[in-house]
Amino acid sequence: MNLAVDAVKAASPEAASSCTLENYLALPDHSMDERIARARARLGATTVLLGHHYQRDEVIRFADFTGDSYKLSQAAAATTANYVIFCGVHFMAESADLLGQAGQQVILPDLNAGCSMADMAEISQVEACWEALERAGVAAETVPLTYMNSTAAIKAFCGERGGLVCTSSNAGRAFRWAFERGQRILFLPDQHLGRNTGHAMGIGLNEMPVWDPWMPQGGLTRQQLAASRVVLWKGHCAVHQRFLPSHVDQVRANFPGIQVIVHPECRFEVCQKADALGSTERLIKIVEDAPEGSVFAIGTELHLVNRLAKRFAPQGKKIVTLDETGCLCTTMYRISPQHLAWALENLVEGRVVNRIQVKPETKRWARVALDRMLEIG
Ligand code: 13P
Ligand code: SF4
Repeated sequence: MNLAVDAVKAASPEAASSCTLENYLALPDHSMDERIARARARLGATTVLLGHHYQRDEVIRFADFTGDSYKLSQAAAATTANYVIFCGVHFMAESADLLGQAGQQVILPDLNAGCSMADMAEISQVEACWEALERAGVAAETVPLTYMNSTAAIKAFCGERGGLVCTSSNAGRAFRWAFERGQRILFLPDQHLGRNTGHAMGIGLNEMPVWDPWMPQGGLTRQQLAASRVVLWKGHCAVHQRFLPSHVDQVRANFPGIQVIVHPECRFEVCQKADALGSTERLIKIVEDAPEGSVFAIGTELHLVNRLAKRFAPQGKKIVTLDETGCLCTTMYRISPQHLAWALENLVEGRVVNRIQVKPETKRWARVALDRMLEIG
């Protein structure tokens, strides 16, 4: 790709300034606004900024595209920009690298922005689980399906074995795709999304045993594996796990007529009590489409809930968090205005910092698994 950065660099008054991260971290949030806007303007069409809905306001306001994991992966696949700055977490930036054009470079402003759920499934553990399925004689009829919130190595594992990736917005479709091709699904790494999706398709809870990677043979017998329809990986999101059925009861008591809408990473008992489930994009759409005067309790990350509360208050829609104490995704929060300014101003100077690059040997099959996801929509 032909980079326009030389021209950008020539116009930069920051050329002489130091671009080390420590210099940025010592400065207050608000002092970054102008610098981000200026660097962004200088980079122009060479750079696209993608922002997940859980990002804080001071960061997401600069995003060219915002969305849930699915929408952002579509945006990453479609952009022809030289640089993709991903304001999200590591697995999202990896997916953007997998889906991007040759020569495109993906930047994650803080490399510590990981996802604790994605870390709950390591490739060696997943391989051990597959070997157990082989020993039970059922691997050939099992389709591995991974949530987007997983490493590229696990996506590649699924792609190579005839499986695919899904997000919370297309998990149902991915389940149907998998059951057209096999008898059983190995679902990684979020047990809650897997259980909620399987249950919505009429699969019994007793047909969805949980594989615990820290137990011998996952804590399951061969018979249990053979009798299962979905083998759920023992992973979860710490943010969504905090929501409890008692929170639903409480908000219903506090606000008669309230609608409870939650992310499907919430536990089964919470989802059963909710009025609707949805990806972050879907939750936003439900609120957008609701009539004036509607009241919602939302079970998802706090930055998104607070932003929606502020945005829809003038339209007479009241929004509260499902758990009064609220919970933020601390790793998403790591993408600060300082990190964003640092990444952008370095780019203005012609330096790519914090590039996320999936290894070539992992790329091929991970891309296959992601392409299958984009094909099912
Ligand atoms: P969405 O795809 O719904 O935005 O979810 C991503 C995520 O990490 C939720 O915890
Ligand atoms: Fe991961 Fe949960 Fe944060 Fe989503 S909210 S990125 S699943 S830790």
